[in-house]
Amino acid sequence: MPCGACNSLRLSSAPAGVLALALLSSLSRCSLLEPKDPAVSVLSPYFGTKSRYEDANPGLLPDPEAPRRDPELLEETCTPVQLVALIRHGTRYPTAKQIRKLRQLHTLLQARGPGEKGADATGGRNLGAALANWPLWYKDWMDGQLVEKGREDMRQLALRLASLFPALFSRENLDRLQLVTSSKHRCVESGAAFLKGLWQHYHPGVPPPDVADMECGPPRINDKLMRFFDHCEKFLTEVERNDTALYHVEAFKTGPEMQNILRKVAAILQVPVSNLNADLIQVAFFTCSFDLAIKGVKSPWCDVFDTDDAKVLEYLNDLKQYWKRGYGYTINSRSSCILFQDIFQHLDKAVEQKKRSQPVTSPVVLQFGHAETLLPLLSLMGYFKDKEPLTAYNYKEQMHRKFRSGHIVPYASNLIFVLYHCKNAKTPKEEFKVQILLNEKVLPLAHSQETVSLYDDLKNHYKDILQSCHASEECELPKVNNTSDEL
Ligand SMILES: *[C@@H]1O[C@H](CO)[C@@H](O)[C@H](O)[C@H]1NC(C)=O
Ligand SMILES: *[C@@H]1O[C@H](CO)[C@@H](O)[C@H](O)[C@H]1NC(C)=O
Ligand SMILES: *[C@@H]1O[C@H](CO)[C@@H](O)[C@H](O)[C@H]1NC(C)=O
Repeated sequence: MPCGACNSLRLSSAPAGVLALALLSSLSRCSLLEPKDPAVSVLSPYFGTKSRYEDANPGLLPDPEAPRRDPELLEETCTPVQLVALIRHGTRYPTAKQIRKLRQLHTLLQARGPGEKGADATGGRNLGAALANWPLWYKDWMDGQLVEKGREDMRQLALRLASLFPALFSRENLDRLQLVTSSKHRCVESGAAFLKGLWQHYHPGVPPPDVADMECGPPRINDKLMRFFDHCEKFLTEVERNDTALYHVEAFKTGPEMQNILRKVAAILQVPVSNLNADLIQVAFFTCSFDLAIKGVKSPWCDVFDTDDAKVLEYLNDLKQYWKRGYGYTINSRSSCILFQDIFQHLDKAVEQKKRSQPVTSPVVLQFGHAETLLPLLSLMGYFKDKEPLTAYNYKEQMHRKFRSGHIVPYASNLIFVLYHCKNAKTPKEEFKVQILLNEKVLPLAHSQETVSLYDDLKNHYKDILQSCHASEECELPKVNNTSDEL
């Protein structure tokens, strides 16, 4: 299968004379030809939560041990004391549900009559035929699992962070590393790959041991923290299981912007428009992203859409994130306050220990989760909030919105709190400061727009959230008092 994919990609644009030769050599060397030159698509900026980390973060340099250093990162009078990182898992396979839809789409294409296959409305390339011949190589077992590229995402991130914060990721600190993860396979595996990256940093060339045998031990699973959304009854009832909560998503699917794309794609595929729907179109769009991110190949699906279509499909993805994980409903972000509190508990403890000149118990805390873990937390903190809500009817007005999930939570996205201990040269006072990094870039603080904050100021800004958050109450459903009815 992978070779088939490789062939059709490489040969589609080759002159006829080269074909036979290329075919012969690619049969044997396909896997060698395949990755290396990373495929790109003009659609890449619009893949939302399925964006590659490097597409969202183009400043990355090829050498992870000499990472690009954000010039805003503190130095000199401040020493980093603790780092708390929330990390989304790396690149993954499509989920079983997405694979099911892909198969449906594939079947639809294969079922087209021979006459239709020959016809070509657009002249030149016969995209419909190319799509029908494009192999569907996704299997049910893949169900959202981390792919090799995803492991590489994590190893590289580990190498970059270890190079950026050598004092925190020191060898002595390795056995004090604290790792927490969601129970999902892709997150557990991301944690393990991250640890292997660190191993590589300290023992270049030595194969890493099993993570269970590493100093810090394997990541600890904690779904209450990393998948708080599964444990929040109020969120589950009001949003997750509520058929009308995603009203705007459903309305946009049948709205004029999507209908245009449906008609266009139906014409290209030469299938009746009634056989298509927004979900199938979206999965077709994601096929382009999956093939690029996972295999580094450009599928013919990338040629079906232009950037205007891509912007509409990106909006559809963002709408869903907005109403399910972002500002759409208060409970979306409130359900993450337990995680927010947990971060500050780590920071508080480190501040206390440092004040007493004790060693910091956990200089590095790594928490592996999902886009669904990060988005609510960023919303809780007030980031990427647009003046107007994203709705089914304001696509044009929201063209320049802040809430673009592809920029915020691509694969391997990370939100990092760095606590510093600073000595002020003029006064003998010691101070604790914090910087927040999103995807390795300093994120200006929501309350001041500064790139650094005194720890106490930050805590003060978020004091309402930190004090009022009680997991059980936050997620409790409003009590229906029906005693009066019985009387
Ligand atoms: C479902 O969502 C709608 C729209 O936000 C809301 O009015 C309704 O109360 C919700 N239903 C439940 C059971 O929470
Ligand atoms: C009303 O109260 C009864 C008895 O406590 C309970 O079983 C029932 O579920 C309640 N109904 C609602 C709608 O809350
Ligand atoms: C329920 O309503 C009754 C009558 O209005 C009131 O006496 C009772 O205290 C209420 N119970 C709760 C738990 O709010």
